Amino acid sequence: MTHPTIIVPSVLAADWGRLHEQIRAVESAGADWLHLDVMDGHLVENISFGPAFCDCVAKVATVPLDVHLMISRPDTFWPRFAKVAKNITIHVEAACDVAATLRAIRAAGIGCGITLKPGTPFAAIEPFLAEVDLVLVMTVEPGFGGQPFIPEMMEKVRAARATRESRGLGYRIEVDGGINAATGKVSIEAGADTLVAGTSVFAAADMASAIRAVRGEK
Ligand code: DX5
Ligand code: ZN
Repeated sequence: MTHPTIIVPSVLAADWGRLHEQIRAVESAGADWLHLDVMDGHLVENISFGPAFCDCVAKVATVPLDVHLMISRPDTFWPRFAKVAKNITIHVEAACDVAATLRAIRAAGIGCGITLKPGTPFAAIEPFLAEVDLVLVMTVEPGFGGQPFIPEMMEKVRAARATRESRGLGYRIEVDGGINAATGKVSIEAGADTLVAGTSVFAAADMASAIRAVRGEK
């Protein structure tokens, strides 16, 4: 099963002082979904924002919200995002029962995703693949926007695509970190269909052409 390519700008890279305006602008520039990076200072070495901020985004956004929980205890916190999220993605490195958390998210009618840090092997997420809607391959060390793409992660994207085909599964394959026109192309060729892009979209003078470029259009 394949999916159309979609572009998911990360609100982490927006100017939060002009949040509403930035959301409207990126949506009219062609964003398919919006990505929300929640960090707790434990799973990753940074703190970003939590449920209240996501509620503010949800008040303005008209596209689906893709919530990436970079937190140690997604099992206790995911319900706080349930009202606004289309998808909730959790880390395999989290300190909780990952399978049970994925199942609980899905049972609430929300798409569930599994992700892994660059240093974690693909084998770590294999036990969960039959029960997820999305596999997120981190292409930078999570915690900060604006870092360079790690090309070696394409091996995991290819493994995710091969497993999806061989096992007849249906998850989306998402990449996150350092995605621009060039690395987007590499990711799409490896099998990614869902491209998160922060800096390359929000720092662009023309967000619409930046989004088209990531999508592989002129
Ligand atoms: C990194 C986050 C990313 C980040 C991507 O921890 O998961 O979503 O916002 O930002 P760029 O596109 O700037 O690398
Ligand atoms: Zn992210």
